[in-house]
Amino acid sequence: MNIIDFLEKDHDRLRRELVRVKNSLSQGGVLEEIKTYIVMQELHESIEDEILFAKVNQISERVSSIDALITNKQVHKKIGSHLNRLLESLKTNRFATIQHVFFEFCALVETHMEHEEFLIFPYVKSLLSNETLEELGEKAQSRMERSDVLQP
Ligand SMILES: [Fe+2]
Ligand SMILES: [Fe+2]
Repeated sequence: MNIIDFLEKDHDRLRRELVRVKNSLSQGGVLEEIKTYIVMQELHESIEDEILFAKVNQISERVSSIDALITNKQVHKKIGSHLNRLLESLKTNRFATIQHVFFEFCALVETHMEHEEFLIFPYVKSLLSNETLEELGEKAQSRMERSDVLQP
């Protein structure tokens, strides 16, 4: 599978997981659900940054692509710090606070995934050959297989 299809499939899995977290918000198991989600999200982003975007940086000297990827990386960091905020909010034990932070987080992640699907991925696709995209897809697949996270 090429890496773009792989990542888009994984986006759908992340969306499903967010629904699971949302459904468990008012229940006891939410901390475990969020921890599982964090592992999936971090793995997903490490595949993007270290396998896909690292390859683009290697082959492309076009400033525009580098700018777009730097911005994307900053959003990954923002998502990471928002996840920490979410974990912090759990300590308050206040449902309204947790719900508020969670919905903000969902909006951030959804906007980011759409940005990748509609802008970043098509752009990356235009820069890399089909052969390279397949090769990177295999790398992504084997990184995921080595982790505890199930396949998308
Ligand atoms: Fe991303
Ligand atoms: Fe993504």
